[in-house]
Amino acid sequence: MTSKTPQKKAPGVSAIDLFCGVGGMTHGLYKAGINVVAGIDLDSTCKYAYEKNNAAKFIEADIRTIKPSELAKLYPKGDLKLLAGCAPCQPFSGYRGKVPKSDKWDLLYSFADLVVALQPDLVTMENVPGLLRFKGPKIFDHFCGKLRENGFTVWYDTVFCPDYGIPQTRTRLVLLASKLGEIKLIEPTREEGEYKTVRETIAHLPAISDGEAHKKDPLHRASKLSPLNKKRIKATPAAGGWKDWKDELVLKCHTKKSGKSYSSVYGRMKWNAPAPTMTTLCTGIGNGRFGHPKQDRAISLREAALFQTFPKSYKFIDPNAKFSKNTISRHIGNAVPVTLGKVIAKSIKEHLASHYDR
Ligand SMILES: C[S@@+](CC[C@H](N)C(=O)[O-])C[C@H]1O[C@@H](n2cnc3c(N)ncnc32)[C@H](O)[C@@H]1O
Repeated sequence: MTSKTPQKKAPGVSAIDLFCGVGGMTHGLYKAGINVVAGIDLDSTCKYAYEKNNAAKFIEADIRTIKPSELAKLYPKGDLKLLAGCAPCQPFSGYRGKVPKSDKWDLLYSFADLVVALQPDLVTMENVPGLLRFKGPKIFDHFCGKLRENGFTVWYDTVFCPDYGIPQTRTRLVLLASKLGEIKLIEPTREEGEYKTVRETIAHLPAISDGEAHKKDPLHRASKLSPLNKKRIKATPAAGGWKDWKDELVLKCHTKKSGKSYSSVYGRMKWNAPAPTMTTLCTGIGNGRFGHPKQDRAISLREAALFQTFPKSYKFIDPNAKFSKNTISRHIGNAVPVTLGKVIAKSIKEHLASHYDR
């Protein structure tokens, strides 16, 4: 049951973004009208892009040790408080049943502790669906349990990003929780057949070679390929992969039974379909189907950023730091697509509209 607060205008919403990275989630929330006051992350290399593109403060800190009182004072008086957080998903990605050796999967306990200490009005969390299948401690149940004990109504589901216009077959677990009552994600904006494609997203960019950076767009740069990898990509047809190569090009590991299942590595993207999920290593052809559909190279940092729905104007390169392609690739691959942040913000706004007078 939803309860409407009669005759009351919805207050503004201010957010703190835990695990903010370079701000994919923050930027989406902000673009859809949520005032993000701060992002917290222990990776100092994220600060430049986070602050350059968002009117929010970057706080370099560990979620496990930050004092809730330090965060509490950041929320402006009178606004509803949103606590957002996308903890690292690597411990649950491609999860095959064993509890991974990582100290990162327990970060959700720290997130839950902060919810209890801060008592926000709204919470959102994004992670990989593997979190639902995690065979270790029932960490997701614990998270939802803590929310319910503290008066939240909880909604979560697996979201297929192309359904919301994101040109990437990323599938994510999205959670929304509110103390006001029922909340859910807005309805999908696209159906199969209408999905945004690789062509629509990157075909307009100028051609570059492997190892080249475009003169006018330093983010449009592609990894240098070894002579052997150059032969491999040349031998890969549109939408094809290593299974199309002559034997002498095939890696030994792919000839083994266990290697046969990695059919997408060294593959080229399909023009008329969404891209695969961007990862921290998405600018290397050996790490997935990250070959350009036509040009003989992996996708560029710019292309990865566009698949993650960052606007062209988003600044990633800190002019005062030594340029590192790997660092920026990690920033982009780690991000929540900006559009998913917008979809979450719109869902929160619809939820508020159903509880307050517009
Ligand atoms: C999936 S990424 C978050 C992406 C970000 N929300 C965005 O939209 O761009 C996870 C982030 O968690 C950060 N992180 C990992 N462990 C952390 C910790 N203990 N405290 C704070 N941040 C942490 C990583 O540095 C990384 O930037």
